[in-house]
Amino acid sequence: MSRHATRRQKILSDHFFKSLFLGINLIPGKITQFFKTLVLDTVATREREGIIRPDLLHLLIQAKKGTLHEEDSAEGQKGAKINDEDIIAQSLQFFLAGFDTSSTLMSFVSYLLAIHPDVQTRLQEEIDKTLKKHDGKFTYEMVHSMKYLDMVVSETLRLYPPAAAVGRVCVKNYTLKSDPPLELRPGDDIMIPVYGLQHDPNYFPDPERFDPERFSDDNKHNINPMTYIPFGLGPRSCIGNRFALMETKSLLAHLLSRFSVKVISKTPIPIKVIQKGFNVTAEGGFWLGLEKRIT
Ligand code: HEM
Repeated sequence: MSRHATRRQKILSDHFFKSLFLGINLIPGKITQFFKTLVLDTVATREREGIIRPDLLHLLIQAKKGTLHEEDSAEGQKGAKINDEDIIAQSLQFFLAGFDTSSTLMSFVSYLLAIHPDVQTRLQEEIDKTLKKHDGKFTYEMVHSMKYLDMVVSETLRLYPPAAAVGRVCVKNYTLKSDPPLELRPGDDIMIPVYGLQHDPNYFPDPERFDPERFSDDNKHNINPMTYIPFGLGPRSCIGNRFALMETKSLLAHLLSRFSVKVISKTPIPIKVIQKGFNVTAEGGFWLGLEKRIT
């Protein structure tokens, strides 16, 4: 594994394909086998047939061959090689990191809109107005230009960050100025509590309240950026950040232009937030209704 790996990648690489010492796998064997076969078959087909696609898998194949020259070369370690297990772990990481997180965000936004019809109506007004301005076409610019949509999605990510915590490995001695001070040593595992920070009343007054206004142009400068980290921080923050926001906003724009999300008898209010695997979700899943809009 490259020395640039984060804690999460190390976990994926070290443990997903091996049993933990208690004999428990983090991912069920059938799923592991499915991914193993999927990735290795795809790699074999591409190599056999000389297929080149401009995608992550191609970069991983190059890294396996040692032909991917990255910044390592500046330090004289040209293209550290990776093996098949690393390729499977990286592919699985992309799938897990990108799929569940985004669908979790979409589910929580839908739930919040259903229980806050005033917010939903204001958002639909913005979507209708913006669509009209863009001749009824959903484009990147059209979705990107909606400020209230951004406020709603940002506040959902604060209230229900799909990743409850991010991890790092300490690389040098450091004293955390806590009371009492905490001495950190190289090799120590550190979990940064995203959910905790984003629910701390010192940083977000009345933290359990869903309030998109926190992210309005007038208010957002009050947010300390180190306390709002749904996509993590620094050079190893989420690589899919922009894509995730765009796909979620596009979905909402399409959906809300035609339907309203409604509370139904099965909708749990309040929702019970639980941690499932790596992600935050709702106990019992999300139960909502859709009502066609009369426009
Ligand atoms: C709402 C959706 C998403 C959320 C909330 C989310 C959140 C996160 C978080 C918290 C991290 C760890 C960052 C850190 O340690 O500082 C992360 C890493 C990562 N995410 Fe996302 N993510 C989302 C969507 C996506 C998508 C759509 C993709 C891919 C298409 C993706 C790919 C990745 C990858 C590859 C990493 C590891 C980056 C690295 O270690 O350098 N994520 N994400």
